[in-house]
Amino acid sequence: MLPKTTPDATPAAPAHPGAHPNPLGRLSLDELRRRTSMKWRTYPEDVLPLWVAEMDVPLAEPVARALTDAIALGDTGYPAGTAYAEALAEFAGKRWGWDDFAVERTAIVPDVMLGIVEMLKLVTGPGDPVVVNCPVYPPFYQFVRNMDRTLVEAPLGEDGRLDFAELESAFDRVTEGGRRRAAYLLCNPHNPTGTLHTTAELTTVARLSHTYGIRVVADEIHAPLVSPGARFVPYLTVPGGENAFSLMSASKAWNLAGLKAALAIAGPDAAAELAELPEEVSHGPSHLGILAHTAALRDAGPWLDALLLGLDENRRLLSALLAEHLPSVRYEPSESTYLAWLDCRALPLGDDPASVFLERGRVALNSGIPFGTGGAGHVRLNLATSGELLTEAVRRMARAVG
Ligand SMILES: Cc1ncc(COP(=O)(O)O)c(C=O)c1O
Repeated sequence: MLPKTTPDATPAAPAHPGAHPNPLGRLSLDELRRRTSMKWRTYPEDVLPLWVAEMDVPLAEPVARALTDAIALGDTGYPAGTAYAEALAEFAGKRWGWDDFAVERTAIVPDVMLGIVEMLKLVTGPGDPVVVNCPVYPPFYQFVRNMDRTLVEAPLGEDGRLDFAELESAFDRVTEGGRRRAAYLLCNPHNPTGTLHTTAELTTVARLSHTYGIRVVADEIHAPLVSPGARFVPYLTVPGGENAFSLMSASKAWNLAGLKAALAIAGPDAAAELAELPEEVSHGPSHLGILAHTAALRDAGPWLDALLLGLDENRRLLSALLAEHLPSVRYEPSESTYLAWLDCRALPLGDDPASVFLERGRVALNSGIPFGTGGAGHVRLNLATSGELLTEAVRRMARAVG
């Protein structure tokens, strides 16, 4: 049985004076179970949830302050201005060396997925193909199909990296005959593998996209979630990326999915198309969401840095736990996201090990199957929790295997 209050519920001492404490592990299981969001309310109480991309962290203090100040003032109307884009521009310059980030080529959108839909509408029409790298975030399939585009898979390589032979073959197929417009929905960094695409890889993507006349829409929602020492490369900064769109948001890195807001960013050669975005799209994001996201990017960098260190610790812990309890599960710790993609094909659990872990182990992970081709036999585990809950989750998984 799991203790009701985790011993690491008291804030861990910072690594050095003045450093921010690790936000993971600061909430007790009791507190987490009081949450009413999807992660904590989808399964019964005896199930430990390490699935959907919500984090077990308290809000960063600057974000909480921005929200409580707005509530105190009754500042709950419609959004105005470009503060969100300005905060992202400053963050992008400091973190990624993106010095010519153009606030005037941005638009607020309700969230990243609806932003993707709007960008795809700008560059494709009904029935046109959209290429994705499977296995990939399942809503890519749902949203693209729901908007009457044709989804085309270009699988990642076995190493979880872009496979350019597959990508080029997909580009070739979807542009055959030259009748249709086509788009490529890139996930950078990639969910579920956490792969960070390099400058060289992204430059090759840009070259291929120009050769085949395919427009790139880059989902860069996980961009701030990069290990210390690793480097995120924004797609719009690589040579050839000028006619692409990027979608960014503070929602993953600061756990703000309930506070809807995101930004669409156009490269210089896509600015005219972004200007065609219907005005009503900007009615979707909430004012409180924009205030929260802006405060996160502008003022909650130290909180993010502490989180990134905590996530690195959890990746090391997960490797050690799997080696001890489930040595046949393959796990390659990634440099980005808080997701772990576990290859369980050597276990006798069939195509959907998540259902066995849930039924026999009472631990909820994402099944790999909805991630498309290459997902069977895999599970996605959410690392953004305390060391104690992570340890308990792997013990439960091992117990499920028997
Ligand atoms: C790659 C990716 N894109 C988009 C989203 C969803 O973002 P939003 O809630 O802003 O639509 C997620 C959420 O986990 C994600 O991992």
